[in-house]
Amino acid sequence: MLRPRLPRRLDTAIPDLELVPLGEGDAEELFALTTANRAHLRRWLPWIDDVRSVADTAAHVRNGLELRRLGLRMDYTVRLRGRMIGSIAYHLLQPAHRFGVIGYWLALEATGHGYMTAAVRRLVEHGFVDLALNRIELRVAVGNCASQKICARLGFKEEGVLREAEWLHDHFVDLRVNALLRSEWVTGNG
Ligand SMILES: CC(C)(COP(=O)(O)OP(=O)(O)OC[C@H]1O[C@@H](n2cnc3c(N)ncnc32)[C@H](O)[C@@H]1OP(=O)(O)O)[C@@H](O)C(=O)NCCC(=O)NCCS
Repeated sequence: MLRPRLPRRLDTAIPDLELVPLGEGDAEELFALTTANRAHLRRWLPWIDDVRSVADTAAHVRNGLELRRLGLRMDYTVRLRGRMIGSIAYHLLQPAHRFGVIGYWLALEATGHGYMTAAVRRLVEHGFVDLALNRIELRVAVGNCASQKICARLGFKEEGVLREAEWLHDHFVDLRVNALLRSEWVTGNG
């Protein structure tokens, strides 16, 4: 897999919406956004209760940077006119298999405008064009309709359901596997 020498900002099709590589200086803003959206994010994100302080977010950022150096992970903040509104990542990269898994979230007030669809579309393009990926996967909890709609808009194919694959606070949820192959990718899809 090609490894970008320097992580760079990725613009999107929406003016003023860009993906900016997550850096150590982002911890405070990221923690503030996470904590302000706790109830919204808790519905689908299992890790939210583990984030109790800026130190927890700073540790997450440092861990992400280390994995980025190894070519195993790539985190971005989603920014509108420079202000952080969410997060998106290749939270798993397997260079040997040219395979990446995307995850994301948006602040509640930023939902409903197509921002995440545009962000995912751009990260997919980055994956196929710059990282030479062959397969990009999105695992979505069954019932998470907003996230499943993003997969559908971008032409991901539903491949099946992993039963009780994730522990969400107090119960297991099933995860739907959605994937897009390089051979299926249509520029500008969605
Ligand atoms: C998943 C999540 C990011 C989806 O947010 P979202 O705002 O629905 O997604 P988008 O930014 O792509 O916006 C799509 C919405 O904007 C609308 N929209 C407006 N203009 C649009 C455009 N140009 N393109 C696409 N959608 C547009 C769509 O109709 C859709 O609204 P609808 O659901 O009422 O039909 C958000 O719900 C979230 O953060 N949830 C909690 C965390 C989470 O579940 N993460 C994913 C785990 S797999």
